[in-house]
Amino acid sequence: MRSWRDLPAPAALPGSGHLLRWSRAPLALLEEGARLGPMFRLQFGVPAVVGSCFTWNKRLLTDLDTFRSAGSFSRMVPYLSGGIILTDAPAHKPRRADLNRPFGPQAMTALRARVQAALHGEPPRGPFDALAWADRVTLRMLNAAYFSGDFDEGLLHAFLAPLRHPFPTPALPRPALFARVRRELNRLAERRLLHGGDDLLAHLARLPGGVQEARISLAAGHDTTTHTLAWTIWHLAQHPQWFTPEGLRPAVRETLRLYPPGWMGSRRLHRDVTFEGVHLPRGTLALYSPYLSARDPGLWSAPTQFRPERFEQAPPPWAYLPFGGGERVCLGMHLAHLLLDEALRTLLGAPLTACQGDPTPRPGVTLGPAGPLVVQRG
Ligand code: HEM
Repeated sequence: MRSWRDLPAPAALPGSGHLLRWSRAPLALLEEGARLGPMFRLQFGVPAVVGSCFTWNKRLLTDLDTFRSAGSFSRMVPYLSGGIILTDAPAHKPRRADLNRPFGPQAMTALRARVQAALHGEPPRGPFDALAWADRVTLRMLNAAYFSGDFDEGLLHAFLAPLRHPFPTPALPRPALFARVRRELNRLAERRLLHGGDDLLAHLARLPGGVQEARISLAAGHDTTTHTLAWTIWHLAQHPQWFTPEGLRPAVRETLRLYPPGWMGSRRLHRDVTFEGVHLPRGTLALYSPYLSARDPGLWSAPTQFRPERFEQAPPPWAYLPFGGGERVCLGMHLAHLLLDEALRTLLGAPLTACQGDPTPRPGVTLGPAGPLVVQRG
């Protein structure tokens, strides 16, 4: 049996291991590691391994008893540190069952009209920055879906804005801002408990801890959806053959393959594990990367090119993971598709052309385009 120490590792800087490279350019570090093999190690001061093969992805995403969220990177970001995101087995399964109902495909039908109303008057004319537009409409659509538009838009914006910044900004504690958000959420939740309602908060307010789940899932859902929307618009402007009602879904899927906002997921090992002959001790930081797996040249043809037609065939198993997989698959997957679908539909009806922009992926809490992404409509 091999030790995790025998795994290959990308070049490290003396003194800081991989920490400095990770903080400056994590995608380049991951790509270098993936070139060394399907599993590699990182020098983070604790045992840390990254896998990009499907067997690793499957094991990490299905063995919830061993691969735990407590102790993962989410713990370091107060926005994501709590609720379902940090709930582990055995409590995770029943909690997800409660949450899956309001976020399930049937529930989306009831939300669609609200989301459409929130987009009223939104389709821009002339040149516009797709990133700024996506940011604004995603906030508005989420406000409609969660709160029927009742949440103070300025406060919602102020709450979510730090998430977009590079580290350490999203990791800093913000007690005053979080307290204001909590007060606003509680006020709106109490109103729904008294008078009823059918937005997401009305459903969440009935669950113990549901108000916290609203706050956490909003943080998980805003930038992820914004970035996907912006990148999809940018690609549609360059590949107009997909800018049709039928082309939008494959275009979104391909955008999510190339630029998965959840570019890396982390877990902690709850016990010693032997994976494909390698011994990984309890406490190991275990990473999987939807970004690496979806660009693996052994699995995808022309992996760096935008080719939505590749989805005419099923993607390789456990290699296309923009929403993760298994029991912890993204809670907001159906909601994200609803928002993306509705926002993109409002743009149909006038041609899009790309003007100028920088789509280079910038990793932070989520992967986003460097921007701006200026496109012309009409
Ligand atoms: C295009 C948009 C989105 C993308 C690409 C995305 C991606 C992901 C990924 C990759 C995971 C799994 C992370 C892991 O395995 O560590 C995840 C989990 C999660 N997402 Fe999303 N997400 C999106 C939108 C949303 C939205 C709109 C919500 C709002 C409800 C949301 C809420 C969550 C939550 C609460 C989890 C944790 C689920 C659990 O641990 O059981 N996401 N998402």
